[in-house]
Amino acid sequence: MIVRNEQQMKSIREAAQVAATVLDRMCELVSPGMNTYDLDQSGRCFIDELGGESACYKYQIGSRIYPAYTCLSVNDEVVHGIGSIDRVLKVGDVISIDVCTRYNGYIGDNCRTVPVGSVEPDVQRLLDVTEESMYAGIKAARRGNRVGKISNAIQRMVEDAGFSVIRDFVGHGVGKSLHEEPQIPNFGRPGDGPKLREGVVLCIEPMVNMGRHAVKMLGDGWTALSADGSVSAHFEHTIIVTGEGPEILSVPFGKEVPELALKD
Ligand code: MF3
Ligand code: CO
Repeated sequence: MIVRNEQQMKSIREAAQVAATVLDRMCELVSPGMNTYDLDQSGRCFIDELGGESACYKYQIGSRIYPAYTCLSVNDEVVHGIGSIDRVLKVGDVISIDVCTRYNGYIGDNCRTVPVGSVEPDVQRLLDVTEESMYAGIKAARRGNRVGKISNAIQRMVEDAGFSVIRDFVGHGVGKSLHEEPQIPNFGRPGDGPKLREGVVLCIEPMVNMGRHAVKMLGDGWTALSADGSVSAHFEHTIIVTGEGPEILSVPFGKEVPELALKD
């Protein structure tokens, strides 16, 4: 777990603001009739305009190389969906937009699931609960707490609502590379895992299925879907553990920290 100094924090904060600004702009574009290839290309342009680089493009896991600039996952897709000209958004869909950029040599990573037009009330509830569980996790990210405190807060909120947290993907530390120590599962006991220290930067990112938690992989080698075909949601912020508590870093330039984050 890497502890950052003031100078590094300044760079990391800007990096996270770039990622957040891109995500914000992409969310504003979401509308029925749009295809996910065009949305990804818009993301590519926004990243470019802000002087950043996509940290997804050409990201390699084993022999697989990620081909898109952002991750766009629709409905039952959980994570790492690849934009396609054939995937046209329609009213009632949800899309998870995961933006991960490099700026100042540091990575900022954030994600939001947004409705296309209006969605069924149970789908909206899935989005609301997933977002709230992310904030519950963030609030548990205090100096001296173990990572499991974050995991447990997320899991409890999600399962109390009757939904399931994904086991196969986890939150993570972040810095010069995308996935650093510690891993942050979205399930577990409060006493599990390492103790958090001041100056640690984390990505807290619950992924939640409306049905059961199992996932399966699409033939493209990247897209993970819910095995039971149920709708999935994903929210993520990059945060830092300060002496005064967690601070959300992935806030768009010129915007305030979201109100939900401050609510008790
Ligand atoms: N935010 C995603 C993650 O933490 C970014 C993945 S980049 C990809 O896993 F190339 F793997 F898609
Ligand atoms: Co992440």
